[in-house]
Amino acid sequence: MKRYAQIVGWGKYVPSKVLTNDDLAAMVDTSDEWIRTRTGIAERRIAAPKEATASMAVQAAREALVVADVDPAKLNLIIVATATPDYLFPSTACLVQDALGAERAAAFDLAAGCSGFVYALAVASHLIAAGAYELVLVIGSETLSRVIDWTDRATCVLFGDGAGAVLLQASEQPGGVLSSVLGADGSGGDLLIMPAGGSRQPASAETVAQRLHYARMDGREIYRFATRTMSKAAEQAVQQAGLALEQVDLVLPHQANSRIIETVAKLLKLPAEKVFVNIDRYGNTSAASIPIALCEAVEAGRIKPDDHLVLVSFGAGLTWAAAVVQWGAKVKVAPLPWWKRAWYRLRDLLVALRSLWRRYLRWVDALHGEGEG
Ligand code: ACO
Repeated sequence: MKRYAQIVGWGKYVPSKVLTNDDLAAMVDTSDEWIRTRTGIAERRIAAPKEATASMAVQAAREALVVADVDPAKLNLIIVATATPDYLFPSTACLVQDALGAERAAAFDLAAGCSGFVYALAVASHLIAAGAYELVLVIGSETLSRVIDWTDRATCVLFGDGAGAVLLQASEQPGGVLSSVLGADGSGGDLLIMPAGGSRQPASAETVAQRLHYARMDGREIYRFATRTMSKAAEQAVQQAGLALEQVDLVLPHQANSRIIETVAKLLKLPAEKVFVNIDRYGNTSAASIPIALCEAVEAGRIKPDDHLVLVSFGAGLTWAAAVVQWGAKVKVAPLPWWKRAWYRLRDLLVALRSLWRRYLRWVDALHGEGEG
């Protein structure tokens, strides 16, 4: 029996702090007019000091699990696509696994720049189709505000923070992730890079002084690369799914620049109403941009059961990725009764207590071991 990976839950989280173009114009030599006409961005969200990639991922994941009405303890795997993990290690996915109380889940991060979410969706759907897993949580989460040089007007106006998640479930019902196309061209790695902080150039007083821990980008080259690859990848994914472009109901492109999105729509000969755009409110949230857009498209009534969606992205690496999804789930989510909301809150608290208890036991065990030694 053939297995399909259906999207059964979705959720997003964006921080409450809004940074407008006018706010940026007070920080660097730019203007609302320049940013809007060159990028389509009006404002973006910035994580609060207490927030980071894992905490935002957890919020989005919890929402997805509630939509699907699935207990986190049933998850088999959690993949977090991110270019801004909380730490180099442990993985952000492990932090999320602990916070959710996903006791039976394996967890790993996936780094493919802004294409990370579609890469992760492809990996998860193949693992489900192969029979390895039943329930896989795929998250895109980014805190780009922490790796952006706020004195560099060429990059600081583009990015924002946020997270989005989908829950994939194995099903015999045809649909879900129908196809995926992934690609990479590492020769363009230096076009979008954070030069220091890895094993090549570990952190030192010198790397900090040279501002090497911030994202550096050749905007013009990335722009050219994006318009060349996105339409090709989308076409290939549609073809692989056995569809024609006219059968596509909605394209959810990576939200990096509205001019890139318009060019891609033109190349694919798709009318504007078949392309979802929310870059004006969030800027480029890298791996989080497509799952956030997906949630907003559902909320806005732009997705109906059985619709064919194209998710398409490009990013650091350089990478590109496209997937075709046949939406199989409901689109209306009934509000949770008060007792269920209360139970979920209590469960999250118990999960946090259990994690503390485990740390305590490990500490006691270590003390005991020292005593024995
Ligand atoms: N405000 C005012 N002027 C600016 C700003 C700014 N924020 N930034 C650059 N400029 C100036 C430049 O200095 C330049 O001035 P000059 O002509 O005197 O030298 C002028 O504007 C034009 O600069 P360009 O770089 O040619 O501007 P362009 O039209 O290419 O737009 C942009 C720049 C928006 C960055 C565009 O190239 C782009 O969107 N590229 C793709 C970026 C992208 O998608 N990155 C992420 C990809 S991967 C991922 O998502 C992580």
